[in-house]
Amino acid sequence: MNICVIGSGYVGLVTGTCFAEFGLNVVCMDKDEDRITQLNEGNIPIYEPGLEELLKRSLREGRLTFTTDLKAGIQQSLVIFIAVGTPSNAEGDVDLEAIKEVAASIGQNMNDYKVIVTKSTVPVGTGQMVENIIKENQSEAHSFDLISNPEFLREGSAIEDFMRPNRVVLGSRSEQALAIVKDLYRPLYLLETPFVITNIETAELIKYASNAFLATKISFINEIANLCELVDGDVHQVARAMGLDNRIGPKFLHPGPGFGGSCFPKDTHGFAHLARSKGYNLKIVDAVIAVNKNQRERMVDKIEEAAGNLVGCDIAFLGLTFKPNTDDIREAPAIFIIQKLIEKGAKVKAFDPAGMPSARQVIPEVEYADDAYGAVQGCDLLVIATEWNQFRNLDWGRIQKLLNKRVVVDLRNIYDPSRMRELGFAYTSVGR
Ligand code: UGA
Repeated sequence: MNICVIGSGYVGLVTGTCFAEFGLNVVCMDKDEDRITQLNEGNIPIYEPGLEELLKRSLREGRLTFTTDLKAGIQQSLVIFIAVGTPSNAEGDVDLEAIKEVAASIGQNMNDYKVIVTKSTVPVGTGQMVENIIKENQSEAHSFDLISNPEFLREGSAIEDFMRPNRVVLGSRSEQALAIVKDLYRPLYLLETPFVITNIETAELIKYASNAFLATKISFINEIANLCELVDGDVHQVARAMGLDNRIGPKFLHPGPGFGGSCFPKDTHGFAHLARSKGYNLKIVDAVIAVNKNQRERMVDKIEEAAGNLVGCDIAFLGLTFKPNTDDIREAPAIFIIQKLIEKGAKVKAFDPAGMPSARQVIPEVEYADDAYGAVQGCDLLVIATEWNQFRNLDWGRIQKLLNKRVVVDLRNIYDPSRMRELGFAYTSVGR
């Protein structure tokens, strides 16, 4: 079967490459000619472990192609996935311009029955909007069906999440379209992956509700961490004991500087905004957003307290990305914190295994080092801001010699407080 994926960004590339791995013929489309040229040579514009190998194999074996020719992509495919970006606009509303443009093109170029699948995270009601736009733009009448198939991929583990998902959600009114798309996912039946079949609106809602709930767990445990600091509690023990209750579960209860990335911040705002537009206030989601903002600010205070005086203080930062195994610095707590510290008079030297090219564009005033030890050299204080594996086993003997003062602020709680104190460090973490 031939399928087309419109939008060769993060979601589109992972979706297209993984479907090609399932044995389907996939054409991935994007307007950006440079990107398409690079992709046809096997060069991927994003950092995602494992993606390049899979993509190159499918390219070589002819199951995957990249094009800027939207018309050809649409006409030769039975199923068309929409995977274009849905950024937030200034009001926190979701910007659907790219989706609207694609829907119009699909309508104009349709030559036969098509199944149109929305992968992008879109507000409830977008499916209906896409249907209307396609109809308005059709030059000849062709039947088509819509499916909402939200993606739940995590950056850094996207291939695994696609190949072994916890669930696949499909929202549609058409039995025929559902049968066609279920067939694309056939390899997952062998793994007994649960399929949730519902209507389009519910599928759209499931994605937002899932991300908002995960963000709620993070803000919840961050508040408990803040309370632990006031009552001499240990948030890890609280989280562990809570997580042992099957009804709660252990995941997403790791405290830290708050959630970042291109999804949770945008989707919590988008969800709250959508609800308000329907006359309902999602009070919990509003609180999650506020707690997350506050958490970043608390981290700045924590560092200031450890430093004593930020004016002229040289701070080493390990980790800039919003989480490990990605080069993505969008909404990364580290970036916000560094900007605040610089505003308050500190100087920052940083190292990140993948995030430095983008960070240089956003915070050029930072000095960038070649490795963790280069960042620490000559600084007064060390902050660990992202839990990359290579920061989990630092040579503390070497760091003692490189750092002016033995002060460490660990925003991801990757070290043991008593061990760090034994090593002679003034060590601060979150909620312990
Ligand atoms: C998230 C969801 O996990 C995916 O299921 C979803 O598909 C994706 O958003 C999306 O909507 O596209 P992602 O943003 O890649 O994926 O990253 P996560 O691994 O969920 O982490 C998000 C943030 O939460 C990171 O800043 C991370 O450091 C933070 N986090 C996560 C915590 O602070 N504590 C935790 O316990 C877990």
